[in-house]
Amino acid sequence: MKRNLPIEETVRYFNQKIRSGIFLTTTNGNKTNSMTIAWSTIGYVWNKNIVTIYVRPQRYTYEIIKDAEDFTINIPLTNDLDDAIRIFGTKSGRDTNKFEAANINLEPSTVVLSPSIQECEVNIECRIIYRQPMCSGNDAVVETQYPAGDYHEVICGEILAATISD
Ligand SMILES: Cc1cc2nc3c(=O)[nH]c(=O)nc-3n(C[C@H](O)[C@H](O)[C@H](O)COP(=O)(O)O)c2cc1C
Repeated sequence: MKRNLPIEETVRYFNQKIRSGIFLTTTNGNKTNSMTIAWSTIGYVWNKNIVTIYVRPQRYTYEIIKDAEDFTINIPLTNDLDDAIRIFGTKSGRDTNKFEAANINLEPSTVVLSPSIQECEVNIECRIIYRQPMCSGNDAVVETQYPAGDYHEVICGEILAATISD
């Protein structure tokens, strides 16, 4: 049974799970893909509830999300999907059917085009409202993370809906 999830609980589940990896799913035209993410924040900006994601340009997901309208964040609440998190974070949708490999199924979301993940208890639906490539700075951490200059693109999505299946 699916129900709408209040924002405070959405934030709590997101923060509980982000460090060990959750899924990002997006669609554009006839291409849909999911990948594992762990660098992301949830917060309040521009008077809106916002999820910010960081996607490297090498990802197949980037190829899709660069022109996409929206994305979903898919959070498993148990450890049952640990293998799937690993597969979606090490294989590319460019040359592997990760959904088949990890036995993961997509389902329609409630308001955005990007689908949700059936096996994830919590799905957050976000409309992309801001994006910006990161750029070089003097900060030592930034220099360590980007020796090849492959800066993440920072993408902010407004949360339009969040659901939990009990
Ligand atoms: C735990 C974990 C967290 C990750 N977090 C991110 C992230 O926040 N941003 C990113 O661009 N890649 C991240 N990755 C790497 C992508 O998930 C990985 O490169 C994936 O294979 C890309 O798939 P794709 O080519 O189908 O898009 C992470 C990988 C793992 C294992």
